Amino acid sequence: MKFCIINGPNLNMLGTREVEIYGSMNLKDIEKFTRDTISKLGHKVDQEWFQSNSEEEIINKIHELASSDVDCLVINPAAFSHTSVAILDALSILKCPVIEVHLSNTNRREEFRQKKITAKSSTGVIEGIGYKVYSLAILSQLIK
Ligand code: DQA
Repeated sequence: MKFCIINGPNLNMLGTREVEIYGSMNLKDIEKFTRDTISKLGHKVDQEWFQSNSEEEIINKIHELASSDVDCLVINPAAFSHTSVAILDALSILKCPVIEVHLSNTNRREEFRQKKITAKSSTGVIEGIGYKVYSLAILSQLIK
């Protein structure tokens, strides 16, 4: 199976950014943990990790996926989750499952984070379990 993992704005600053909320692992560490975990569990999957701080680049990446053979998109839209109808519309084009993830439990945070515009196009949402959300999202498509 082929997975694309898209990470939105400021997630390139993980590891130094509000560590009490997001933890001390940077995005590269999280990618490594996810790859190691999935392979330790005996699964062979392709993972393409992509990060951008730009809404335009994220939309273009989603458009690329629409005409690819990717089996599932895992996306942490970060702050765009709460603001971007444009990303919601792009996600609606995809035929494959879309799992939205958040490291933190946005339901326990500020009110503006509780509205997740992009989640309207998601198959499911996994959040609040820190760096493990990416592995759990991938596993959600592998376990039967
Ligand atoms: C986040 C939660 C968002 O509210 C925030 O803007 C982020 C990270 C998370 O992974 O917990 O940048 O998506």
